[in-house]
Amino acid sequence: MDPIRNPYAPGAGQRPPELAGRDEQLAAFDVVLERVAKGRPERSLVLTGLRGVGKTVLLNALRGAAVRRGWGTGKLEARPGQGLRRPLSSALHQAVRELGHGDEESVDHVLGVIKSFAHRDAGTAAKLKDQWSPGIDVPAVRGRADSGDIEIDLVELFADLGGLAADVGKGVGIFIDEMQDLGADDVSALCAACHELSQSGLPVIVVGAGLPHLPAVLSASKSYSERLFRYQRIDRLAREAADRALEAPAADEDAAFESDALAAMYDATGGYPYFIQAYGKAVWDLAPRSPITAADVAVAAPEAESELAVGFFGSRYERATPGERDYLMAMADVALAQSGLGGDEDSVPSADVAARLGKKPQSLSPARDSLLKKGLVYSGERGRIAFTVPHFGRYLRERG
Ligand SMILES: Nc1ncnc2c1ncn2[C@@H]1O[C@H](COP(=O)(O)OP(=O)(O)OP(=O)(O)O)[C@@H](O)[C@H]1O
Ligand SMILES: [Mg+2]
Repeated sequence: MDPIRNPYAPGAGQRPPELAGRDEQLAAFDVVLERVAKGRPERSLVLTGLRGVGKTVLLNALRGAAVRRGWGTGKLEARPGQGLRRPLSSALHQAVRELGHGDEESVDHVLGVIKSFAHRDAGTAAKLKDQWSPGIDVPAVRGRADSGDIEIDLVELFADLGGLAADVGKGVGIFIDEMQDLGADDVSALCAACHELSQSGLPVIVVGAGLPHLPAVLSASKSYSERLFRYQRIDRLAREAADRALEAPAADEDAAFESDALAAMYDATGGYPYFIQAYGKAVWDLAPRSPITAADVAVAAPEAESELAVGFFGSRYERATPGERDYLMAMADVALAQSGLGGDEDSVPSADVAARLGKKPQSLSPARDSLLKKGLVYSGERGRIAFTVPHFGRYLRERG
């Protein structure tokens, strides 16, 4: 069919033509926005899930919902080894602009506080030329959010920001993607600041997204984090939602799927959003005409799989060293032995992986830790390990 009209959108953070199966999260977030703006206590929201399930896309949609309500919003993506101050300052700068508060003096004060927060990077008295300027052209407000203790500074910063938003009856939403990559001090400070916020009734919320072990990262940092955040597991789509993700965009282009074709698509994709988009794209290009049939899906499958092998799996596999690849392969073998085909999403005991490689577990911890840091595997429970990438075991076994 006409590739120019192909509606599907495989790719990290690519907005899907139809955001299927997330109505519950969107509706719940509307309630959160309403409550926070009214000064009611609300927990911050944290989305967790495997690679490619649609966390970034949903985070962006939630941000869109906040913007539509006139909130000030800002977003950042955490990176390993990078401090929170600079990216957060840029995000908050954006949020203040979006708020559109009319009183210049109040706005300049908060911008000045953001600037002083940013300048206190790494607690060092950096030389002036080294100071990073977040493009804020008001003077820094000395003595506010610049103590060097990130926890104290965040609380002050959020308090001033919340005050500004409360003036105009709105709120501020701070969206943090890849939240598991925040440094330990930053996580702990962020938890403390959220704790403070939840008690003061200030209209500021943090919405995070990250890998499945993010709740463990947060609770290792502050024991009260379980009461602070509402965790929402973002998962593969149920059959009905997966069908809608394919059919609605097709219908907009006057095309359709036969019901056998939808069943074949679900078989192949397992309902994982990234796979749905990749298969949708391939089958659209290769099918001779609408309606798309199960035979068309079979013809398109190799094309879809080879796209995924490069764009989804390969880019991640490339990041692993030979030793780490052996570890990943052993994980795939253990997962297969443990639960058969389709067991790749289950965690496996790391002791079994070591046994499979004929090594002592301690000797493998460098590889394991490095894979954890690279976000290729995660450990939700002590002594167990799982792939962050769905169907990764199958990919590894097939490439051999
Ligand atoms: N609800 C949905 N319905 C249909 N397609 C979706 C949905 N959510 C995400 N997608 C599609 O899935 C793909 C992956 O989405 P996204 O990048 O948000 O995943 P992610 O969970 O952030 O992955 P990663 O952990 O790699 O960052 C994109 O191509 C997107 O268009
Ligand atoms: Mg993402």
